[in-house]
Amino acid sequence: MDRYVIKGGTPLVGEIAIGGAKNAALGIITAALMTDETVTLENIPDVSDVNALLGAVSTIGASVSRIDRHTIKINGSTIGDIKVDYDCIKKIRASYYLLGALLGKYKKAEVPLPGGCNIGSRPIDQHIKGFKALGADVEIKYGSIFASAENLHGAHIFLDMASVGATINIMMAATMARGNTIIENAAREPHVVDVASFLNSMGANIKGAGTEIIRIKGVEKLHKSTYSIVPDMIEAGTFMVAAAATKGDVLIKNVIPKHLEAISAKLEEIGCEVEEFDDSVRVCSKGYLARTNVKTLPYPGYPTDMQPQIAVLLSMARGTSVVTESIFDNRFKYVDELTKMGAKIKVESNSAIIDGVEMLTGARMTVPDLRAGAALVIAALSADGISVIDEIGYILRGYEDFEMKLKNLGAEIETVGDEKDIKKFSLRVG
Ligand code: EPZ
Repeated sequence: MDRYVIKGGTPLVGEIAIGGAKNAALGIITAALMTDETVTLENIPDVSDVNALLGAVSTIGASVSRIDRHTIKINGSTIGDIKVDYDCIKKIRASYYLLGALLGKYKKAEVPLPGGCNIGSRPIDQHIKGFKALGADVEIKYGSIFASAENLHGAHIFLDMASVGATINIMMAATMARGNTIIENAAREPHVVDVASFLNSMGANIKGAGTEIIRIKGVEKLHKSTYSIVPDMIEAGTFMVAAAATKGDVLIKNVIPKHLEAISAKLEEIGCEVEEFDDSVRVCSKGYLARTNVKTLPYPGYPTDMQPQIAVLLSMARGTSVVTESIFDNRFKYVDELTKMGAKIKVESNSAIIDGVEMLTGARMTVPDLRAGAALVIAALSADGISVIDEIGYILRGYEDFEMKLKNLGAEIETVGDEKDIKKFSLRVG
């Protein structure tokens, strides 16, 4: 597996364009299967999670053709199998969206149970509760979920928590159920709204996406659509924090500033300047970072996918900060890696208590999961000295051209294969 070698200390300066949202693309790719007509998707991010799901939908017989790096055509009329094989779900958890899409369209689906992952146990009981409420028989056996229904009917569903995945999965199944469905305590993330908008562009009747109550009137058929994916708020937030951590000045383009409000507010609390324009934000930091507290919440609260990144920033702030993770039960694996750089962080239950230090120092680290990986890169870019970060495949799951975008902002970063390359980089950068 490749690794990054990074020389820290250079402020990131310049501008970058943000790509389409991975977590919108994953739901939309599966929803596109619900029509037998051809769907064209634009602004699709070229990241391995999305490409893995495109592979999964091809495996069940859908036709997928790539027009260019960020545009694909999908046609679900040739789907021959409602059984998703195990290595699809192993490669990409979001294959479980095929449950909602196939159940909605064919009234049956068989998908292997997704495991937990590196950020904690991730049950799908709420997804199953929703499918059952819509009239499906759902059984778990031989490690898979078997869902089927004579017909799906509308239902009034109360989610126990504002689950993004359950909201999207149930919304897809309900789109082609008979009658009206209400999802209470629905997730409000921009990527949930994007999936709803996409389904409506195919002829669905979904109202209220973006609020905690989504109303769906079932329809018989869905038709073709051409749709452009919403900008990725987490990729944008990651670069915002990178600008702040390296005492830089970066214009982040192709964003919807409203989606970034919780992140911008925290950065301003910490002492950064955040300027909003129509479709871009500019973040600069004078170097003084003030401590603050952060608690992750469902949207519009501070996003859990931005938790490791803000913790890195606060590890260099003056004073003690507390970062509380309220969404996942094990999302602090990166703390042990950060400690190697001199960070002073103690994890107690679901909070990290962070005593800021003047400067982190370069170290050898291993990426535990996607967003933690991006956070470790931010730490290495801000540190004194050279860092080596192993297992960067996790990062490539959700960040397109991460190294190139950072290099364009002045970062000293290289993807290397072996120790020889690391030595060459160290000699070159001195
Ligand atoms: C989505 O995961 C995202 N993934 C995650 O992003 C993101 O962290 C998460 O939403 C929260 O915003 C995709 O969109 C592909 P949830 P999801 O259902 O849908 C519990 C990234 O870095 N829960 O909102 O799996 C669950 O255990 C990834 O891009 C149940 O208990 O998240 C968690 O504690 C990481 N039962 C909480 O709810 C259920 O049936 C929120 O999970 C479903 C969820």
